[in-house]
Amino acid sequence: MGAGIAQVAAAAHNSVILVDRDEPTVNRGMTAIETNLNRSVEKGRLTEEQRGLVLTHIRTETAVKDFDVDIAIEAATEDLAIKLELFRLLDRATPPEAILASNTSSISITQLGSATARAERVIGMHFMNPVPVMQLVEIIRGIATSQATYDFTERLARDLGKTPVEVKDFPGFVSNRVLMPMINEAIYAVFEGVGTPEAIDTVMKLGMNHPMGPLQLADFIGLDTCLAIMNVLYDGFADSKYRPCPLLKQYVAAGWYGRKSGRGFYTY
Ligand code: CAA
Repeated sequence: MGAGIAQVAAAAHNSVILVDRDEPTVNRGMTAIETNLNRSVEKGRLTEEQRGLVLTHIRTETAVKDFDVDIAIEAATEDLAIKLELFRLLDRATPPEAILASNTSSISITQLGSATARAERVIGMHFMNPVPVMQLVEIIRGIATSQATYDFTERLARDLGKTPVEVKDFPGFVSNRVLMPMINEAIYAVFEGVGTPEAIDTVMKLGMNHPMGPLQLADFIGLDTCLAIMNVLYDGFADSKYRPCPLLKQYVAAGWYGRKSGRGFYTY
């Protein structure tokens, strides 16, 4: 998702530094951006010149160092310890007036803010996958987020061509509080033998006009991410209605993460 965010930011004429933990990973992000841009050129939506211009707006780094930026958007894996460490690093590496945003899908923005000395400038900027295609950006205010930070972030989302929606900092925000229990329930339906993954997905695609069935979508999001989000809901609300399905836990334990690992509810 970091690559997708970098792409839409660069396409809106912002200078972008794409940071990942090592060369192969950051290069994979750049390759994804180039593939997307090439497709847009082939489809006649972008000229060769515009494609080149977008790419010149992005440079890459493999470590957080002193960055003279207005905003940093963290899009690391859904792991609280990793995100807290990144926010500590970004707090030291960026100008004090810079905004620190997280693309987290469920982790508390208030808690991420507490890892910094600028909680009023910490905010959630939750894009949807695939970032270049999906319209929504969920903007999450932590308890200390200032109005100026919110206004800047909302304006940025609009500048990137997205539609911002404001939500409060509660587990899963709105998107995953509603989406993930549906996915988890679909996994229970597989677990209990109510239907095959194909049957369940067909019901939701043809019956409810969802572009992807819940199990196809789970594979697309990543089953490890789905489990991490269910755990945030389960722990955050201390309510058994959010318990992750044992089958989801078993797939993740097996390394069956969905599309990215080649196997989930489907094989790729
Ligand atoms: N990156 C960039 N563009 C992509 C893309 C990608 N990874 N995948 C597809 N696209 C583009 C294609 O280029 C195509 O664009 P054009 O028609 O303009 O050429 C368009 O999307 C449609 O693609 P396809 O025709 O190949 O496939 P499709 O019609 O089946 O659509 C889809 C693919 C857009 C992914 C669609 O299936 C869909 O909307 N699925 C649901 C996605 C969704 O729910 N996302 C949210 C997930 S939850 C989340 O992200 C947040 C979280 O916290 C977990």
